[in-house]
Amino acid sequence: MPRWGSETVAHDPAAQNGTALNGGSAANAAQAQAQGEVLIRARGVNVAFGAKKILENLSLDVRRGEILGFVGPSGAGKSVLLRTILGLNPKQGGKIEVFGIDYHQASEREKLSVERRWGVLFQQGALFSALTVAENIEVPMREYLDLSPKLMRELTRLKIDLVGLAPDAADKYPSELSGGMIKRAALARALALDPEIVFLDEPTSGLDPIGAADFDQLIMTLRDTLGLSVYMVTHDLDSLFQACDRIAVLGDRKVLIEGPLSTMLQSDHPWVRSYFHGKRARTVVTDHGTAAQPMPSDGAA
Ligand SMILES: Nc1ncnc2c1ncn2[C@@H]1O[C@H](COP(=O)(O)OP(=O)(O)OP(=O)(O)O)[C@@H](O)[C@H]1O
Ligand SMILES: [Mg+2]
Repeated sequence: MPRWGSETVAHDPAAQNGTALNGGSAANAAQAQAQGEVLIRARGVNVAFGAKKILENLSLDVRRGEILGFVGPSGAGKSVLLRTILGLNPKQGGKIEVFGIDYHQASEREKLSVERRWGVLFQQGALFSALTVAENIEVPMREYLDLSPKLMRELTRLKIDLVGLAPDAADKYPSELSGGMIKRAALARALALDPEIVFLDEPTSGLDPIGAADFDQLIMTLRDTLGLSVYMVTHDLDSLFQACDRIAVLGDRKVLIEGPLSTMLQSDHPWVRSYFHGKRARTVVTDHGTAAQPMPSDGAA
């Protein structure tokens, strides 16, 4: 069974049930696509560690207001690309513009202005273990803003509320939180500076299906209410089917294919096909009510 229940909504506009939230999603996605404003533009990116090439001639766009799902085999380089976009990995070639600025070539001042406009939830080490949740959320505020302790505390309280944590989570340490609460707290920290785009690396991994569905719903709500753009690295088929407006697949060191779910379902690339038409996917697809047919040459039931 896919992890969303009957009350949740489908990605495909044709299959939507008309809830206000979902209507908003569709409208936002359509608006963003109509606007076509590209927030992240990667062209011809090459990244290698020593002789080992990880990314080669990779190109990708992320548009304002969309939730882009980024998938690919484990070890393909999804986190490396994310870290490269964020300037944490050097690249050997190509260009990455963020908000129209070539971050890798930017002055310190320009870099700061870009960093204030994005938020990140890393795959590893989501929170500082020696700091409380509130202190974790305050880290970017201290780094980039000059706020009074009182105002910081107030903003932190709002972020905690925004991600659906109880107020008393503020003074807890990460070791006192469940996995789902840690993800939410890390999201609150990623949202600390009211970013225009958040980068999420496997945000639902390790969550139970209901917790993961709740997290996806939260991301969609934030996209709809705050106009947030989302770059989400994920292996989670449910997230891809439920939450993502577009999907990009990393393989052979580059983006093999990008587009809406329907494009993925029609692709005959072997990895894309086995991922989106594999046994696990088929359960999701069938329950989802979209393109439940196996590929024409796919003999398996
Ligand atoms: N700093 C580094 N130095 C050397 N090799 C690295 C470094 N960072 C990543 N790699 C290598 O780059 C490759 C891609 O790693 P990456 O973490 O991007 O994979 P991924 O697609 O995110 O996988 P997963 O889905 O398992 O998270 C791996 O072979 C990894 O060992
Ligand atoms: Mg990774």
